[in-house]
Amino acid sequence: MVLLGTVLVLTLLRPVALSADLTSHVNVFLGTENGGNNFPGVARPFGMVKMGPDLFVSGTDAYSGYLPNGKFSGFSLMHEQGTGGAPKYGTVSQLPLVGNVSDPLSSKTVGRSGTDQASVGHYKAQTSEGTTVELTASAHAGMYKYTFPEESVGNVLVDVSHVLPSFRGQGLGQGYKGGNITIFPDGHYEGHGVYDNGWNRSPDWSIYFCGYFDAEPVSNKTYVGTDADGSVEQGSGFASSSSGKTRVGGLFSFEKSTVTSRVGISWLSTEKACNHVQSEIPHGTSFDSVVSDTQDEWNSKVLSKVTTTNTNDKSLTLLYTSLYFMHLIPTNQTGENPGWTSSEPYYQDVFTYWDLFRCSTALMQVLQPTAYEEQIRSLIDIWRFDGYMPDARSSNYNGRTQGGSNADNILADAYVKGVRGAVNWEDGYKAMVKDAEVTPPNDPVDSMAPDSSTKEGRGALPDWLEHGFITPKFTRAVTRAVEYSCNDFGLYQVASGLGKGEDADKYLNRSRNWRNHWNPTQDSLGFEGFVVPRDTTGFFEIDPLQGGYWGDAFYEGGSWAYSWASVHDMKEMISMMGGAKTVLKRLDTMFTDGAKGSSGIIFDPTNEPMFNIPYLYHYIDRQDLSVARSRDIAKTYYDDGVKGLPGNSDAGAMQTWLLWNMIGLYPITGQTTFLIHSPWFESLTIDLGGGKKLEVTATGGDGNGDKKIYVQSLRVNGKDWKKNWLTWNDIFAKGGTLEFELGESASDWFTGDLPPSPAS
Ligand SMILES: *[C@@H]1O[C@H](CO)[C@@H](O)[C@H](O)[C@H]1NC(C)=O
Ligand SMILES: *[C@@H]1O[C@H](CO)[C@@H](O)[C@H](O)[C@H]1NC(C)=O
Ligand SMILES: *[C@@H]1O[C@H](CO)[C@@H](O)[C@H](O)[C@H]1NC(C)=O
Ligand SMILES: *[C@@H]1O[C@H](CO)[C@@H](O)[C@H](O)[C@H]1NC(C)=O
Ligand SMILES: *[C@@H]1O[C@H](CO)[C@@H](O)[C@H](O)[C@H]1NC(C)=O
Repeated sequence: MVLLGTVLVLTLLRPVALSADLTSHVNVFLGTENGGNNFPGVARPFGMVKMGPDLFVSGTDAYSGYLPNGKFSGFSLMHEQGTGGAPKYGTVSQLPLVGNVSDPLSSKTVGRSGTDQASVGHYKAQTSEGTTVELTASAHAGMYKYTFPEESVGNVLVDVSHVLPSFRGQGLGQGYKGGNITIFPDGHYEGHGVYDNGWNRSPDWSIYFCGYFDAEPVSNKTYVGTDADGSVEQGSGFASSSSGKTRVGGLFSFEKSTVTSRVGISWLSTEKACNHVQSEIPHGTSFDSVVSDTQDEWNSKVLSKVTTTNTNDKSLTLLYTSLYFMHLIPTNQTGENPGWTSSEPYYQDVFTYWDLFRCSTALMQVLQPTAYEEQIRSLIDIWRFDGYMPDARSSNYNGRTQGGSNADNILADAYVKGVRGAVNWEDGYKAMVKDAEVTPPNDPVDSMAPDSSTKEGRGALPDWLEHGFITPKFTRAVTRAVEYSCNDFGLYQVASGLGKGEDADKYLNRSRNWRNHWNPTQDSLGFEGFVVPRDTTGFFEIDPLQGGYWGDAFYEGGSWAYSWASVHDMKEMISMMGGAKTVLKRLDTMFTDGAKGSSGIIFDPTNEPMFNIPYLYHYIDRQDLSVARSRDIAKTYYDDGVKGLPGNSDAGAMQTWLLWNMIGLYPITGQTTFLIHSPWFESLTIDLGGGKKLEVTATGGDGNGDKKIYVQSLRVNGKDWKKNWLTWNDIFAKGGTLEFELGESASDWFTGDLPPSPAS
């Protein structure tokens, strides 16, 4: 009673200040190991600066900079989130070193002492030399706080050549190509570095920096150096190189134990980099205030969008940590576009839509309608000025495209769900038509898939247009065919909406071409009918369990995965597979331990191509089994620790899959359909913006989604609901309520009316 009274009074007095600090539920180390590749450093939502440690272990790629072991090679301002493929960025770095530093440009590292500690907005590590490094950041600038051991000279090394290396041997390693650095009489430094390559095989790109120290150095020097000769001090406070063979850098030495540094970055100029740091972290700003501003921003713009009455620590960690990691990329680079001048918003670090189109962008629309509209406008602007929308984009350069031109799916999804605002949909549609009709030049040639462009668009379009299928002349032929079908379905959706009837008919037709790869007699594990490679003479026999990579017919999954991919044509797929009974057995086989003759299941929770599969039972009238399978995957493969993700986060794709599982819905991208499964919590509220909200409640469950997960009844907006799906308009457009009653076993709450199969 006393406690309640106190809370009430305080609530009345300081409602805002008292609102919960949800960042305490974010474990920034979740999924940083075991291939999750989460980025544990500091950043603002969609922030250009993602500041964190770069660890060096020879032979191991550090995709987001962090590794749990190894030596520090730097603490840098730029990273990706949770990506695989090959590391990108690790640029604009500082490294603290104690004592005399000889040969500063010789790829210095320093050991790590203890375990790094971090929370939202604050990262803390200790070097083997006894220096404590703390990091915090604003959107375009970062702040370092060094505590050097007593009575020693503390140095900060700025090595402009620093990037995250790659040891994969696929020609994807980043290169340093030149740069310069100037130390000014007041002790601040400015410069730029030029880099290339990385996973998207990007040509040279430049980043500008501007750094301040809030302590007087005892010495500050610039260096140039080569790998062979070691580094040579430059007297003038300026070092420059136009070649990657010659490195440049600066060394700042202090006899103070605590030194802070503020560094801004810009894609445009050193002047802008200086403006960023001066406006966002001005001289005299306390480190702690940047930390608390960062936390406030995460609370107000992201975490508080979803609230729940749940009190289970692990579930809350999974919920808020997942929300956190889906908001690091794409990067909001509006006002920072080195490619062209435009009044449209600009987002990049799309890494990649191949990962995100299935269920992530749909959640972005729900949680961040303003940012999402900006992202759609940016995609169209990239087409306007760069020629094609990206399937992936990093360092302001499109690439790589793994399967189809999946920005088409994302535009279609946004269009059918009513994203309008300042989006120019006539242009949006033109950008999609470009993907669907104009083969991109094969430049640069990708050595892992030399047949056609992996930069953008649809490299295998010539076959698609000529035959309605893709021959082995093109790599990843079956994956591409299946994804091109889905992309064409996206064009059908937007063409229909814009009243372009002829186009709509044409693309609906084309969206069915995945069927041309269907060999009804290809068998595997007693099932018949799979998508297979083919040429003009017929089908090729394959092992549908066999996966593949860039040069193969299937990409990161086999025919068991891709045969399920054409969800827009589900009814036809079910009929081609032999009807509902067979499909039930075939879906079950995906989740049966040992089905493929060894341990493990065919369903691959570690990668995106199979994301939709646990929910496909909906289409054969077995919603209860979608609940069972998807919940089992969520509870078995996701956890709240450092190994908490089954595979690469991929820009938050994994996390959004988990979030939908908690919410109790699953989006079908490109359609307004959401499949209804079963929520985890007794209550969960999503702030949809503009005063609208979605409230999801569940009685009869265990409140945590572990047991009693089956739907007994459902009311949508107060009315009894008998379908296993609903649409955007039902609950998102104006907000809504979902009231579930859950129980121990499957019920017959649901009576027919299967989710739509618009292409069937
Ligand atoms: C550091 O360098 C200075 C100047 O070269 C030298 O006098 C001093 O002995 C060196 N100290 C150590 C610990 O090597
Ligand atoms: C450093 O390089 C940039 C970009 O090429 C150039 O604009 C600038 O003038 C250079 N700085 C100095 C001091 O030469
Ligand atoms: C730092 O570098 C600048 C530019 O070279 C120089 O003017 C200044 O004297 C240096 N400060 C110290 C303490 O060496
Ligand atoms: C993206 O950045 C621009 C420029 O800083 C800003 O005006 C806009 O509000 C940002 N978008 C979001 C969703 O924060
Ligand atoms: C759709 O495909 C069918 C069969 O290939 C063809 O006969 C028809 O003309 C096509 N319609 C359009 C609008 O392309």
